[in-house]
Amino acid sequence: MRSVTTPRSSWCRRLVVALVPILAVFMGCKGSDASPEPLPPLARSDAPAAQCGETGHPDCPTQLWMKSTLQAYLRPRNFERLEGSLRALGARAPNGYAGWQEMAAAGAAAAAVADEAGVRNSCKACHDNHRAAFRQQDRAIALF
Ligand code: HEC
Repeated sequence: MRSVTTPRSSWCRRLVVALVPILAVFMGCKGSDASPEPLPPLARSDAPAAQCGETGHPDCPTQLWMKSTLQAYLRPRNFERLEGSLRALGARAPNGYAGWQEMAAAGAAAAAVADEAGVRNSCKACHDNHRAAFRQQDRAIALF
């Protein structure tokens, strides 16, 4: 009996003895902070935010708000809701976008008198002036 168990346990011990240095080297490598490797791109803190609005990613906050309020209210010509939403948009003007508040206010005033062309002018004015820059610089921020 002993002659069977002894060789097996010594084989086991040899395996452990062989594995310990390998494990030690492996863990030593993983634990080293001195590695000059650059951080992988996903570790950048702005990576997830910068991807909103792109294919396969959720809409950005303002983009989603535009679709679910202004666009949704303009289609059925819900001027009352358009007026309120455009006023809210004007009140949330981000820094660095000249005339944002005024363009939104002009749209709200047009909505108050059910002037669809006037409302659309305000959409177009702000989009023409600011949409591209906003998308490039600030689209990850939530205005609401
Ligand atoms: C004061 C500025 C401003 C006004 C007024 C405005 N928008 Fe926008 N809109 C923006 C900005 C900025 C974006 C870009 C948001 C983004 O892509 O992150 C945008 C984006 C949108 C989008 C998203 C398009 C897409 O799928 O990427 C829709 C839809 C939209 N606006 C509809 C409207 C409508 C309809 C009106 C008028 C009733 C309107 N907007 C008025 C600033 C404005």
